[in-house]
Amino acid sequence: MDYVVTCAFGIEAVLKREMQALGLNITRSTNGRIYFQGDQKALFKANLHLRTADRVFILLGQSKVMSYDALFDFIKGLPLSETLSSKGKYHINAKAVKSTLYSPRDIQSITKKALIENLKVAYKKTEFKEEGEYYRLSIELLNDTVEVLLDTSGESLHKRGYRLKQGIAPLKETLASALVQLSFYNEGRVLYDPFCGSGTILIEAAMIAKNIAPGLSRDFAFLAFPWVDKQAFQTLKKEAYKAINHSPKGRILGSDNDMMALEMAKTNAIEAGVEDIIDFEFIDFEDHPFTEEYGIIITNPPYGERLETIEDAEILYRKMGAQFKRLKTYSIYLITSYPGVEGLLHKKADRTRVLFNGNIKTRYYQYYGPKPL
Ligand SMILES: C[S@@+](CC[C@H](N)C(=O)[O-])C[C@H]1O[C@@H](n2cnc3c(N)ncnc32)[C@H](O)[C@@H]1O
Repeated sequence: MDYVVTCAFGIEAVLKREMQALGLNITRSTNGRIYFQGDQKALFKANLHLRTADRVFILLGQSKVMSYDALFDFIKGLPLSETLSSKGKYHINAKAVKSTLYSPRDIQSITKKALIENLKVAYKKTEFKEEGEYYRLSIELLNDTVEVLLDTSGESLHKRGYRLKQGIAPLKETLASALVQLSFYNEGRVLYDPFCGSGTILIEAAMIAKNIAPGLSRDFAFLAFPWVDKQAFQTLKKEAYKAINHSPKGRILGSDNDMMALEMAKTNAIEAGVEDIIDFEFIDFEDHPFTEEYGIIITNPPYGERLETIEDAEILYRKMGAQFKRLKTYSIYLITSYPGVEGLLHKKADRTRVLFNGNIKTRYYQYYGPKPL
């Protein structure tokens, strides 16, 4: 089977590394999507284990189409009954970019007609009541090439199921995991997030340290498909539970000057099963002692939500510069949409990446410290 995994722009390289580590057979990649081939187990693994993926789709077909007739004929000719049942409810999303067919509404309705015609022939039925399991299809046109995709994830994979509460401007779990994976953090190092809010970065790091699969506590759309081997998926889940490391090395420390945010972070950490390895502290960034050597700071400092003015932001970022100056052995990673951070910190980052948190364009500033002795 051919599959497509989607992710936020800018984190494709991280996702690719995760896929390679899982042994998935990658065939190609483009902006925000990586293609792979495999059996059902590959589909289960991708949904259960990938930390930076948004969704996993089955690629039902791909073709050049420049007219609605061509689109209709293409969809009608696909072997859809191999994956779609005769009882399903079919929801179709359409998108078109730089293509002759540009109306999502028309693409959606032509596809639906062709799909029903296709299944009527395949199942020798005259009527479709659409009362059964749910199939969400995405019809995406780019430069006149259409891809017919069947969503296997259901809710976006950033929804791990642990975030019962969220603060102001939380990071997406997938992005937070990418930040950790782009840093020098590993299980043995001391990790700080001094503006931890609802704790997303630290919880994602702790899940990596404990080797907790990100999809262990959630549901997936593919579990409703009749042809899916649920027993095989349960076996994979059991293996994932067995692989959890209950006593990882290193320390993970979160702090914030908002008590409510810290309460949320603690609740979320408990839900994610990582409260035992994260210590949360109510302390203002300015007063933080940062006592350990060779620490790693990965943080998403505020901008815009509680700071009233640009001057407030500048004061805070200058204080950060003063704190960081004395942390000579630290590696420091900041994600923010605030421009001009490097100027205020008086230090140019070793590497800067543009990343998207939902629709918000942010930058990830990476300051590399020395390796621990
Ligand atoms: C953008 S939010 C962090 C969101 C977090 N990454 C999440 O996923 O929930 C910034 C956080 O910085 C905290 N904050 C603002 N000024 C602070 C300061 N001077 N010291 C410590 N925390 C501060 C806020 O309370 C807020 O929770």
